[in-house]
Amino acid sequence: MTAPAETVAPVLETRGLERRFVTHRPLFGAPTVVQAVNGVDLAIREGETFAIVGESGCGKSTLARMLIGLIRPSAGEVLYRGRDISHLPAREMRGLRRELQFIFQDPFSSLNPRMSVGRLIEEPMQAHGIGTPAERRARVAYLLGRVGLRPEHAGRYPHEFSGGQRQRIGIARALASGPRVLIGDEPVSALDVSIQAQVVNMLEELKDEFGLTLIVIAHDLAVIRHMSDRVAVMYLGEVVETGPVDAIFEAPAHPYTRALMTAIPAPVPGSRPETAGIVEGDVPSPTAPPPGCRFHTRCPFAEARCKTERPRLAPGPGGRLVACHLAGRLPDFAPRTLAPGLTSGAARRFGLWRAARGGDVATSKIPPAEERRP
Ligand SMILES: Nc1ncnc2c1ncn2[C@@H]1O[C@H](COP(=O)(O)OP(=O)(O)O)[C@@H](O)[C@H]1O
Ligand code: SF4
Ligand SMILES: [Mg+2]
Repeated sequence: MTAPAETVAPVLETRGLERRFVTHRPLFGAPTVVQAVNGVDLAIREGETFAIVGESGCGKSTLARMLIGLIRPSAGEVLYRGRDISHLPAREMRGLRRELQFIFQDPFSSLNPRMSVGRLIEEPMQAHGIGTPAERRARVAYLLGRVGLRPEHAGRYPHEFSGGQRQRIGIARALASGPRVLIGDEPVSALDVSIQAQVVNMLEELKDEFGLTLIVIAHDLAVIRHMSDRVAVMYLGEVVETGPVDAIFEAPAHPYTRALMTAIPAPVPGSRPETAGIVEGDVPSPTAPPPGCRFHTRCPFAEARCKTERPRLAPGPGGRLVACHLAGRLPDFAPRTLAPGLTSGAARRFGLWRAARGGDVATSKIPPAEERRP
């Protein structure tokens, strides 16, 4: 996969992005505050697939929601094509939503069960005043076809479809308004591995056809490696390593990235996807994150300064940025030292995807939708 050149202007950029949530406000004393995202600087390039990875609770969804204005930052800014959108009035933000769309993780709760599939896909067009009723209906039929469903499915309701089909409907709905950026928050992690492959391939084809920039949050490192140009690894609200996917997967520089990549059990074909990121030790509470490097309580290389000084992202090999005081001085991490699960599991899944794709990427058809539920 060829990443867009570094000279391409970022389509989305974050500067010092922070989000805190008050989770408990006692009658007396200080409220309990979760630091979900803490000082994130990212630049996402037009046309690339950018992945965000990290253990559950590290702030991926909060970051993604801020990127498209679904929630507001506590500090910092989000620039879309150079313009700060994090403080826009709600009305202007709604207008922009046409260009910035979201695919939700759960295909069961994200679609209104009382709306027909046709209405679900037409609604965003109507909301943004796109097309005549006839044009909208034609686009609904076209989009259904593009996600591997049939025009007659427009008259049916979400409960009549399987999880994979519902996720296809969610994707058609996200595409309806003609977005420029699509963010998928674990878009395939609720699906069976074999169906994941179909949906991942479909997303890649749609990205090319519609000229999208894709931001994907995934638990599964094999999904990320397969799909993405660049990746950001998050830990407790902060980006610890970011850069080209190939460089980082071949030689992860941050101890947390290394731990993520050595902790993946091998998947069993046909099973639910495994969750990556079983790093030794518990994730500290985001209400009281460790001072200095947030990873120091679990890091095998931690030294005295790690407990007091926060490491900042600095350039590392292969065009990456890494936030570790010891970056460049750690022992080499050769791919062969990866747990057997990563290599065999990833290879098996890549094979699955290639098979589902049916060979040539440019001419391949989207695989047929899986069986309807009985
Ligand atoms: N609306 C909210 N209110 C309170 N806490 C929240 C809210 N949303 C997220 N959090 C907390 O913020 C942290 C990051 O959550 P999230 O962004 O969902 O992480 P991830 O998507 O990586 O699992 C978690 O500790 C979570 O409990
Ligand atoms: S800064 Fe220190 S504690 Fe943090 S990842 Fe690097 S070596 Fe480990
Ligand atoms: Mg999440």
